[in-house]
Amino acid sequence: MVIRHKKWSFPSHCAAFYFYTAIILLHHQPTIKKMKEHWFPVMLLAIIAVVVAGKSIRAYKRRREADRQFAAWLAAQPVDTVWRGTNASQIPAYSDSGQLIAYGHALITNTARYLGPRGAVARITNGMNCQNCHLDGGTRPFGNNFGRVYATYPQFRARNNGVQSIYARINDCLQRSLNGQPLDSSSREMQAIYAYMQWLGGDVPKGVKRGGTGIKKPPYLDRAADPAAGRIVYNAQCRSCHGSKGQGQRNAEDYGYTYPPLWGPHSYNDGAGLYRLGNFAGFVKYNMPFGTDYHHPQLTDEEAWDVAAFVNSQPRPHKDQSMDWKNVQKKPVDFPFGPYADTFPASQHKYGPFIPILKTKTNE
Ligand code: HEC
Ligand code: HEC
Repeated sequence: MVIRHKKWSFPSHCAAFYFYTAIILLHHQPTIKKMKEHWFPVMLLAIIAVVVAGKSIRAYKRRREADRQFAAWLAAQPVDTVWRGTNASQIPAYSDSGQLIAYGHALITNTARYLGPRGAVARITNGMNCQNCHLDGGTRPFGNNFGRVYATYPQFRARNNGVQSIYARINDCLQRSLNGQPLDSSSREMQAIYAYMQWLGGDVPKGVKRGGTGIKKPPYLDRAADPAAGRIVYNAQCRSCHGSKGQGQRNAEDYGYTYPPLWGPHSYNDGAGLYRLGNFAGFVKYNMPFGTDYHHPQLTDEEAWDVAAFVNSQPRPHKDQSMDWKNVQKKPVDFPFGPYADTFPASQHKYGPFIPILKTKTNE
């Protein structure tokens, strides 16, 4: 880290100024004569000059000490390893490949315009946008971002019991989070979303997960999350935007949402990632109410888990998941549908407490 500040040095230029003034004065006979006649004001001036010079030197020393302390403080700060992505304004929009990337960005941020119930290209989703859950076009730290996608897919995923490509992962969100239909991998839309993911994450080395990617989950509570307590949190901190029935608020053009729905027929279905309490609690803890930054969460851990329990106990579309999680051992502790490899009831898998379930897993 290079610290730059105004170049300022007392001794060199101030000393030179005093020196040259003295030389000029001493070579000037009338001046010397005058100085002898008026010795008192001359003495006074000389004393003032010495005092001012002394003050300047002290100020200079103080400034140097402050710089030294700042440099030491900076060196002691933890290195920021959080991935922040690249701003969409950097997309090279005038090349053909850049235009495909820019279209991918538009599909992520404004999905409803192209693929929603009134979509211009196809009508295959519920009116939400990818960006509703992958904030800032999938670049926000701890905002469920796309920083690790290009580097870690294709990968084995237990939900699908097989190796999953980026295309298939995108279709998972289309069919679950957007409660819709998949895109053909050869379609221009799928190719554009892929190009955007590649552009965004292409500089992350293969296999690497940078800091701040995905969702940061708050610690488990030692009790079950409580939907009744969550309703109070919802009414106080979420209802103003997401609505009294979780229906959200339509946008002015009425093709999508200004505030997306949290439950009801136009929300994500029960096969979506957010339907698991840990994902929901982690997403809202570090991102909601809208504008919250992970440095300054607004909700306590308890509020995050409770509001997750409240929202995810409201009605929403159902997805047949009988083909998921062929290996039941691999089901996450907060997966709310059986069968399970343990004897805990489905309600405990949905609301917790999760620590006892976790303990049986680590004992295996
Ligand atoms: C309702 C919220 C929601 C919406 C809308 C949504 N997603 Fe997701 N998405 C999630 C969650 C939650 C996860 C993480 C799930 C998990 O880890 O179990 C995820 C994961 C992903 C991943 C994998 C990320 C990783 O790091 O492994 C990709 C890729 C993805 N989504 C793409 C999309 C695309 C493209 C769209 C729009 C077509 C979209 N998502 C819309 C909630 C959403
Ligand atoms: C100031 C308005 C506002 C408040 C208050 C607010 N949200 Fe949001 N919320 C948003 C907006 C806007 C988005 C979509 C973000 C985007 O598209 O960039 C969003 C997205 C979401 C999403 C993901 C998308 C979806 O609809 O499933 C969840 C979950 C969510 N909010 C939950 C909450 C919870 C829980 C609270 C209260 C703790 C809350 N929000 C408070 C405005 C708000």
